[in-house]
Amino acid sequence: MQDIHIKITDRNGETHDVIAPTDMSMNLMEVIRSYELADEGTIGVCGGMAMCASCQVYINDGADKLQEMGDEEDAMLSEAFHVQSNSRLGCQIHISEEIDGLEVAIAPYP
Ligand code: FES
Repeated sequence: MQDIHIKITDRNGETHDVIAPTDMSMNLMEVIRSYELADEGTIGVCGGMAMCASCQVYINDGADKLQEMGDEEDAMLSEAFHVQSNSRLGCQIHISEEIDGLEVAIAPYP
């Protein structure tokens, strides 16, 4: 499989069914940016280093498909705003076949 489907709800509450390639070494934050689902400058601010939380998403379905949180992601989310029990950093979610069908909502801009 080369492409997977992900449902992404933007900050206006609109849900988009997007197709993401698994062979381009992308993360979820980059997919959100490439589809322009969040305003430029309000997502991916740190460039995907787990240092800004602007890419925070809420996992609405498929959390069991994700890899466990790394220490940096855990630390960043412990200081971020709007954090919920289903929060993850989009930049730390790698696009792979395993996460096909994931459903997320983009958290408010910090
Ligand atoms: S882009 Fe900054 S934490 Fe993900």
